[in-house]
Amino acid sequence: MKLLITGGAGFIGSAVVRLAVARGHHVVNLDALTYASCLANVAEVAGDPLYSFEHANICDRAALDRIFTDHAPDAVMHLAAESHVDRSIDGPGAFIETNVTGTYNLLEAARTYWRAQGQPEAFRFHHVSTDEVYGSLGPTGAFTEETPYAPNSPYSASKAASDHLVRAWHETYGLPTLLTNCSNNYGPYHFPEKLIPVVILKALAGQPIPIYGDGANVRDWLYVEDHADALLHVLDRGTVARSYNVGGENELSNLDLVQSLCAILDEEHPDGAPHDRLISFVADRPGHDARYAIDPTRIRTELGWRPSVTVTEGLKRTVEWYLKNENWWQAILARGEVGERLGLG
Ligand SMILES: NC(=O)c1ccc[n+]([C@@H]2O[C@H](COP(=O)([O-])OP(=O)(O)OC[C@H]3O[C@@H](n4cnc5c(N)ncnc54)[C@H](O)[C@@H]3O)[C@@H](O)[C@H]2O)c1
Repeated sequence: MKLLITGGAGFIGSAVVRLAVARGHHVVNLDALTYASCLANVAEVAGDPLYSFEHANICDRAALDRIFTDHAPDAVMHLAAESHVDRSIDGPGAFIETNVTGTYNLLEAARTYWRAQGQPEAFRFHHVSTDEVYGSLGPTGAFTEETPYAPNSPYSASKAASDHLVRAWHETYGLPTLLTNCSNNYGPYHFPEKLIPVVILKALAGQPIPIYGDGANVRDWLYVEDHADALLHVLDRGTVARSYNVGGENELSNLDLVQSLCAILDEEHPDGAPHDRLISFVADRPGHDARYAIDPTRIRTELGWRPSVTVTEGLKRTVEWYLKNENWWQAILARGEVGERLGLG
């Protein structure tokens, strides 16, 4: 299959690119190379004849039309997005531009191409979204695919808007779409402004480890390579116009998560132990959702997919990856774009 993957120089997109190439797919990686990108994430496939790169912005319709014509993909996997909630609080405009207008442009370019090809039934437009579109849960219950949308941040609102566009492009134009809504990812190549890499890098530097509020917020954590596998699984077997929730079946409060990371660091990098002495509670994020949890029944029973990596194993692998790949994160820190507290509103 020839896949057009948007956002393939980012965290999750690059995991999908690496896995798709390893499984023998042709991959065209379309990325605007924003601050959140890193081409080193795809260095291991960059020389592969199955791989090509297009430096383009999904808001540039002419570029998208050319890319569809030049590469004639069998499917689009759309991951390009502005993805950091804190940045969306400080500057929501970029999130509307890329996540809403960009997705609209990509849908229109895909529809134009699909029509010109005679509307092949096998074509797929797979939109990759988040569980944050469902809003926040109380102490019990889990998001199903029927949970009403109730996004609380500019980020999740922009993703919710893009999900609605994807639905409408199927209902109105018949474009063969797929939608996945996934919980929080973690693992190798996670950009160092997100919680898990922030904790690891602050602990290694002997600096305060910030926890928003009281650390009671609960997230369901999925190892990024499991997410990439789930996405290729849904692309292959998912029913057109259906949405699938993807979760790790690993709920943890932020405080428990940080303490687990500190315990792993105490073992793997005893200098500075105990690392949890560095935990520092800071002002909460405005509109901070209390709890997310995924009910994975649909993807498990209809498509036979479930995650393979437990959170204990995944966090250990992640810490080890950051310890072994200092060159990767030092190069990103040297760009000077991360570090400052964002999103105080
Ligand atoms: N990170 C998570 O935990 C998580 C969970 C569920 C869903 N998602 C979704 O998965 C997708 C990927 O998330 P991520 O964490 O890998 O994001 P990321 O921020 O790490 O990467 C985004 C990539 O998109 C590219 N990009 C941004 N704007 C672009 C534009 N206008 N045109 C072309 N490329 C552009 C960036 O250069 C970057 O390479 C997003 O759609 C996000 O909403 C993320």
